[in-house]
Amino acid sequence: MTEVAFLLNGTPVRLGDCSPTRTLLDFLREDRSLCGTKEGCNEGDCGACTVMVTDANGVRALNSCILFLPQLHGKAVRTVEGLTAPDGTPHPVQTAMVDHHASQCGFCTPGFVVSMAVGHANGRSDHDTVLAGNLCRCTGYAPIIRAAQASEASPIPKHLTAAFILAEISSEGSGEADSLPGAYAPTNSDDFAAWYLQNPEATLIAGATDIGLWVTKQLRDLPKPVFLNRMSDLQQIERAGGRLHIGAGVTITALREALLPLHPSFAEMLRRYASEQVRNAATIGGNIANGSPIGDGPPALIALGATLHLRQGDDLRSIPLEDFFLDYRKQDRKTSEFVAGISIPEIAPALRCYKLSKRFDQDISAVLGAFNVTVKAGRVTSARIAFGGMAGIPKRASAVEAALDGQPWSIETVTAALPAFGSDFQPLSDMRASAAYRLKAAQNLLIRYFHDLAGTPTNVLEVSR
Ligand SMILES: Cc1cc2nc3c(=O)[nH]c(=O)nc-3n(C[C@H](O)[C@H](O)[C@H](O)COP(=O)(O)OP(=O)(O)OC[C@H]3O[C@@H](n4cnc5c(N)ncnc54)[C@H](O)[C@@H]3O)c2cc1C
Ligand code: FES
Ligand code: FES
Repeated sequence: MTEVAFLLNGTPVRLGDCSPTRTLLDFLREDRSLCGTKEGCNEGDCGACTVMVTDANGVRALNSCILFLPQLHGKAVRTVEGLTAPDGTPHPVQTAMVDHHASQCGFCTPGFVVSMAVGHANGRSDHDTVLAGNLCRCTGYAPIIRAAQASEASPIPKHLTAAFILAEISSEGSGEADSLPGAYAPTNSDDFAAWYLQNPEATLIAGATDIGLWVTKQLRDLPKPVFLNRMSDLQQIERAGGRLHIGAGVTITALREALLPLHPSFAEMLRRYASEQVRNAATIGGNIANGSPIGDGPPALIALGATLHLRQGDDLRSIPLEDFFLDYRKQDRKTSEFVAGISIPEIAPALRCYKLSKRFDQDISAVLGAFNVTVKAGRVTSARIAFGGMAGIPKRASAVEAALDGQPWSIETVTAALPAFGSDFQPLSDMRASAAYRLKAAQNLLIRYFHDLAGTPTNVLEVSR
């Protein structure tokens, strides 16, 4: 198979000659004149380019501006033009948008409608979360949310049910070959590991929520692209020996679902990680491997005591996650070695994760604090505390931990530990926050943690209710 094959609004598309880094958005607008899908930011931030993508994992919303064509192989895409039924009946969310006067200039409307149709197909009623990745500059969100609520009870149009679309996909058949035009796209990690040994200069593309911007904003050419999204063996979450083993290819959406019953504070923090569209594409492997000091996953995972699993050819090694991050954007990763997965304890009742950002939804953290302190008979028996946004890497607060360890768990101990933040961190000032704000906010988060564990509501949403 040397073609990228997918369904577009029910019609087969086969591309034998396409650049592996051509985005779906450009393809829709320039090659297919499907201009309902809009370009706003071209970096995953506004949702104007949202499309509905269906495969065996379900129906989800993705941003087409940072989605490369090979990522769609074997899937079905519906754009806003494909929501209307074959007989011309509008989708229930389209009718509701009209009835509730939920559009003014209309630029954002196709993106909203597609996100709403995906939420509708998945039976969602948490519309604020479903639509947090769609920006509207003129209508205001209240009528849009009212339209989403009004369409909740309407049946899913037959042509958009997962069963109907999956039958369409399997009758079309896209093949299991592992090369696509201009790119390698392995279907299992053994093949990939062997190939990567021979091709160490390759660019690993998982969800492309970082790499997409290298292309759309930095106009970079990517040497030897390899798409990781078809390796289902890296997309598993398994429970064994009291630990959760999470493959590198697990999306943030799937991770959040798995964490909800086990680590609710971590899962709630992930609700504020980017948007639905980004979480549906982004992988935890990409979030770790990119080494960003402001990634949301690593501090929470470090506080949990995560083990990172790396693979180079047939060689596997496991290290504490915090040891992976050596310096700004420098990780302990050998040539041709890749992130295979992580494992975390299933139980950590004292884990709390606090994300501070200028905007509540869909914003990068200014500071992210993750705390996991064990208290027995009133004394601290272990403390794992990690921060993002406070150093060039996601980093443990070792001096703060030492100041707490063995001490009575009291507000006096917490207050006495606050100066230790100055030993652990010398944060930077940037557009997200000043150094002074970051240091003070990090200290305040420890105080917040103390009150949170004592059962006092500390979340802004709980306090404002
Ligand atoms: C609008 C927007 C909002 C965002 N908001 C947030 C946010 O709130 N919090 C946050 O943490 N991040 C955020 N991000 C950043 C991004 O979503 C994450 O870093 C994401 O997890 C990257 O995963 P990916 O699968 O998309 O990686 P990709 O973009 O595919 O890859 C990222 C890097 O990791 C490497 N890589 C990927 N998989 C592997 C692997 N298995 N082994 C080795 N290397 C690998 C790639 O080669 C590349 O260098 C946001 C991004 C966008 C566009
Ligand atoms: S154009 Fe803004 S998210 Fe794609
Ligand atoms: S209707 Fe104009 S931006 Fe939303």
